[in-house]
Amino acid sequence: MDLSRLRLETSLKQIQWFDEIDSTSTRALQLASDPSIETPFLIGADRQSAGRGRGSNRWWSTDGALMFSVGLSLSDLGLVIDQWPRFSLVTGIAVADTIAHFLPQATVGLKWPNDIWIEQKKVCGILIEQAVERPSGLIVGIGINVNNSFTPAPPEQQLIATSIRDERNGEEISRTDILIEFLNRWDLLTTKLAENSLNLPERWSHSCVLSGRAVTVTAGTEEKSGICTGIDDDGSLLLRTAFTTERCYAGTVRLLS
Ligand code: BTN
Repeated sequence: MDLSRLRLETSLKQIQWFDEIDSTSTRALQLASDPSIETPFLIGADRQSAGRGRGSNRWWSTDGALMFSVGLSLSDLGLVIDQWPRFSLVTGIAVADTIAHFLPQATVGLKWPNDIWIEQKKVCGILIEQAVERPSGLIVGIGINVNNSFTPAPPEQQLIATSIRDERNGEEISRTDILIEFLNRWDLLTTKLAENSLNLPERWSHSCVLSGRAVTVTAGTEEKSGICTGIDDDGSLLLRTAFTTERCYAGTVRLLS
């Protein structure tokens, strides 16, 4: 990773990059409790020994993936904590736009709340956690399959995951370029979100892979099934069930068909 380019070409206040770490998000959560650390800060690593995914999932990647966590305060961005579902969607849109920029031929889709898919295969996962010691503090952990490849992986893995390199027929790409492109697109979109000049449902409807599909949303012990009819302006997933249309603000979505 080219840290001098990251310092010059982004608005990050502090950067730490590790050859190996347990989890960039765990480290970022620890750092956020130190009031002398300015935001936004970035923790990145080439390898993680205990990468975490959403819920109780683990995140495991071979060499070449882009893995980082950004510590930020929503108030610095002109947002309040209640806006985090929209902020979470905007984060997914910024990653999807970045991947589409480097893979113009690919169909890059968003799976609510913020997984990124290429043709039903996951290429990126995002984990957003609250940094409770800071007012409106969040740790945004992002794992993008960039130069790691699923070609040597078991067939069941190849069916559900892909990488930018796999989509470029094995050709590698600079992770620095991708990270800088993402951070700057993310800055721009969050500024628009704070200004209220972003038509989120319109942006989302372009790439939502769930619209019109039968899905089950699991949040804790609650499970709801229905047809996804899109997302609402507040960032919730709209689910048409037998009786009504419900809004889901959190959960894991499984496609039923
Ligand atoms: C998911 O799809 O469940 C979210 C995966 C998030 C993985 C990233 S990799 C960088 C950061 N550090 C972690 O431990 N997790 C996130």
